[in-house]
Amino acid sequence: MTTSLKFSDLTTGKPQKVTLGDKDICVVRVNEEVFAVADICSHAEASLSEGEVSGEKIECWLHGAEFNLRTGEAITPPATESLEVYEVKRDGDSVTIQERRR
Ligand code: FES
Repeated sequence: MTTSLKFSDLTTGKPQKVTLGDKDICVVRVNEEVFAVADICSHAEASLSEGEVSGEKIECWLHGAEFNLRTGEAITPPATESLEVYEVKRDGDSVTIQERRR
C-alpha cells in the first residue's frame, strides 16, 4: 500500500497529515528531504502534524515530547517509545510513502 503527494506542495517545517490505509502519517519536508512518521504521538493521542518542526526534530504540541524525524526516536520526555517510520521515495515532484519492509 502506498500514498502519494507532491513535493512542491510541501513546505519545510510545515508538517502535513496524510492517510495510508487506516493509518495517519505525519509528513515533513526538511529542505530537500522528506520524512514520514506516525502522526499519533507515542505518549498520548495528539496529532504530531500539528506540532513544531525544528531541524530534523518534531515537537508534540500537547506535552512537548520531541522525536527524531529520521529515526522516529523519542528524544525528550514524556514520550519514551519511538514512532513508526515510513519509507519515503521521491521522484522529481512525486513523493510516495509506504510501510517499511521488515
Ligand atoms: S501527547 Fe505528545 S507528548 Fe504527550
